[in-house]
This record gives sequence, structure tokens and C-alpha cells, in this order.
Amino acid sequence: MSSPGGPLPAGGPAALEAEVRAAFTPVLPPTGLGAESFDDLLGYLPTHTVRPSHPFTAAHLHCSPDPVAVEADQLVAALNPSQDSWDQSAATAVIESCVISEFSALAFGEPGAGSVTSGGTESNYFALLLARDAALSRAYAVDAAESGIPASAAGRLRILTSDVAHFSVARAAAQLGLGERAVVSVPVHEDHRIDPAALAQAAQRIDAAGDTLVAVVATAGTTDAGAIDPLAECADVAGEHGAWFHVDAAYGGGLLLSNVRRSMLAGIELADSASVDLHKFGWQPIPAGLLLARDPLALDAISRRVAYLCAPDDEAAGYPNLLGRSLRTTRRPDAVKILAASRHHGLDGYTRMIESCFAQATYVAAAIEARPEFELALPPALTTVLFRYRARHGDPDRVNAEARRALLAAGSAVVGRTALPGGGPGSVRLKFTLLRPETTFAELDALLELVAAAARACDVPSS
Ligand SMILES: Cc1ncc(COP(=O)(O)O)c(C=O)c1O
Repeated sequence: MSSPGGPLPAGGPAALEAEVRAAFTPVLPPTGLGAESFDDLLGYLPTHTVRPSHPFTAAHLHCSPDPVAVEADQLVAALNPSQDSWDQSAATAVIESCVISEFSALAFGEPGAGSVTSGGTESNYFALLLARDAALSRAYAVDAAESGIPASAAGRLRILTSDVAHFSVARAAAQLGLGERAVVSVPVHEDHRIDPAALAQAAQRIDAAGDTLVAVVATAGTTDAGAIDPLAECADVAGEHGAWFHVDAAYGGGLLLSNVRRSMLAGIELADSASVDLHKFGWQPIPAGLLLARDPLALDAISRRVAYLCAPDDEAAGYPNLLGRSLRTTRRPDAVKILAASRHHGLDGYTRMIESCFAQATYVAAAIEARPEFELALPPALTTVLFRYRARHGDPDRVNAEARRALLAAGSAVVGRTALPGGGPGSVRLKFTLLRPETTFAELDALLELVAAAARACDVPSS
């Protein structure tokens, strides 16, 4: 059921599951199958896995991996260092420090601190953990790492973020014992950027109620529209209320790599922390997240001293304690592939790659506007384009959703599907997420044509 030429296998989930189970189970046969079994996998997976390197894979912040980074990743897998102690890592520990300080300097203008993470979800969690502990220390004189959340603070801690912030912010609040209700969603303007006046009012209401504002979380590159919140204004609100300012730049943080677009992130230098995912707009193989912190000592709070990993006399003798660098213990040196690709391309190379993706977004938005059967939702802010097919016979939400599934089932294209803020009937939109610098305008035209043909076929009266 492979689909020659397409970015994914044809046939849909149920048929694929049956095929995979038949070919590759039992996972643990009583007698080993030897090298041939790996050849089978090698032959099968490349044509039966969604391929982000295909020009018609355009749904998610799921980039085509840079061959240089892939090679570095293979090197790391073969060497198998672990970043939790110097005696399991050596050079890779230094490489991680170098990567963190240079990326922090790009964000904040100075080398701060940070962590290589599994992605935006972990980075947002990490930032909010630091924010929670800072707020509890400030407002309740409590060391939360030691004693948890005091009863007097329960239900009183708040996080402000926009209506379209990534769901990992609310999930982190739940995991950190604040509860999802601690997250107060602030409305966005039509361009999906937070309304700064509403943000300021929400912060005042929190103060007036005697609650504690733990953090303001701005988004630099929302998942769907790529909108960048007004970062400096968000920083002002956080500053006025003594709160942590975190920028979720999981997507837009890639702009740090562009000499042309970096200024779109103006205000990020005011943040206490920022999430940047190089496995999104940075062409790294998954995972390649960064949690960057402006204060060089910001991560000290998570450090631990453990006899088997970092004895004090080892440290006194110059062997660094690495436990203050991550929430994880055993950990791959994902910084190595970041270093390898960064040195290969340099800022000028990344600038060109990013410009190509911006040009594609501009091109495809204009192409959508030029075709009456499509409706553009809003001008692209980064490299995503939200639109829908104007159904003439069927319910527009159903027609657009079915068209996307038809493309998936045929194995011909992976197009995104989301809902405009607020949701509800009429809110379904299709999405192109353009992260592949090599894609040509002709390929974008062909992708648009595939969507149009699929949508026409689905545009029948609803039964
Ligand atoms: C704005 C934003 N933040 C955080 C995340 C979560 O990142 P990850 O999936 O790498 O954990 C995403 C994912 O798309 C995102 O778009």
C-alpha cells in the first residue's frame, strides 16, 4: 500500500496497521530473526512513513531534516554519550554549553543559561516551573522545590497567555500543581496577536483579587497563524506585576537564525526565558528544543548533587556537575547535531533558507487569493497559510475536513487542518506549513490543485 511519488502510504490507518502488524510482529520472537529482519524494516519504513522531505508534506511544524544534522545524529547514536555527567560525555558537555550560550546571546544579547530539551512542550514546562518557584519565593517566601505549593497559595497562582497559546502551557500548569484554571486566556486581535490592553487589564484583575501573577507567556509564532505577540508590551505587563516573562518561540524562534528576520522578535531580549524548537523552523531531526534563560544562574535551582554523578571533590578538581542543565538525567547530546548544522550553514545559509520559506508563503497566499474557489483566512505572518475551499453545495467544515482526509487516504498530500480561534461551525481551515526551502512555486501550485480537486469531489450536499 505504498504510494509511489506521494509523501505517505495510501490506504489510511486501519489498512496500514494490519500491514505493519503482519510484517513486524511479534516484536520479540522466541528465536531471533537476524539481519534479514532489519533489511525488511529498512525496505519498508522509507515508503510507509510520512516524509517531511516531500514537497506535499505541509501540515505541521514538522521539517525536513538537514542531512548534516542527521549525520551528526548518527555519530552521536554510535558514540552514545550521556549528558548527565562529565564522565559519560566529555566533549559533548562542552558543545552543549557552547550551543546554549550562542543561542542565548542571539535571543538576549548575552550568554545566559539554558537546556537542550525534547521540544516546546518540555521547554514551556521547564520555564513555568522556574516561574512558579520564583513566584512562590517572591510572594510566599517558600522554597517550592523543597516544600511544594503552600496551602495559602493554592488556587491563587495565575498565568496569563493568549487564547491561541499552545496547549502545552495549560498542560504545564496542570502538571505543576497550579491546575489548568490558573491559566487565564487573553483575547487576540484578528491577526491572532494578543490584545495588550486586555492583557494589562487581566493582570490588574489578578492583583485586585489578591492573586499572584506567576508568568506572562507570549507566543512568538503561533502554531496556526504564526502570529508574534507584541513582545515588548507583554514584557511591560510582566515587569509591572513582578511576574516571569516567558516567550514561547517554539516556531518563531527559528528567526533568530535569520539576519533579515531576527528583528521580528524584538522584545524577546526582555524575556526571562524562551522556548525555541530547532526541529521546527531549524531543520533539525527531532528532538532539538532549547529552553533559553536570560539569567546565567536561572537553572541553578534545579541542580542536584548526587554521589554517583557529581561528588563535591570531583567538582573541586574541575569535573563539572551537569545536573543543573536539564530536568532529565540520562540524555542524548542533541546539541551536537545543532552545532554540526549551524557550523555548516552559518547565519548566511540559514538566512537564505528562511527567506525561501517566507517567499513560498507569500506566493501561495497570493495564489489562494487569485483563485475564487479558495478563501484566505489572513495574510501569513510567518510561513503558515490558513485558508479554506469555498464549498458551494456541502457544509464547508465537512467539505474541507473530508478533502484533507481524502488526500491522506490517497497518500498524495499531507495538508494541515485546524480551527479559527473560538472554534464552532464555520471555523475549520486548511493549513500549509511551509518549512522546506527547496520547494518550488510550481510544486505549490500543484499542491493547491490537489487540494482543489479533492475539495470539489467532496463538495456534495450533506446527507
Ligand atoms: C507555539 C508552540 N509551542 C509549543 C509547541 C510544542 O512543541 P513540541 O511539539 O516540540 O513539544 C508547539 C508545537 O507545535 C508550538 O507550535
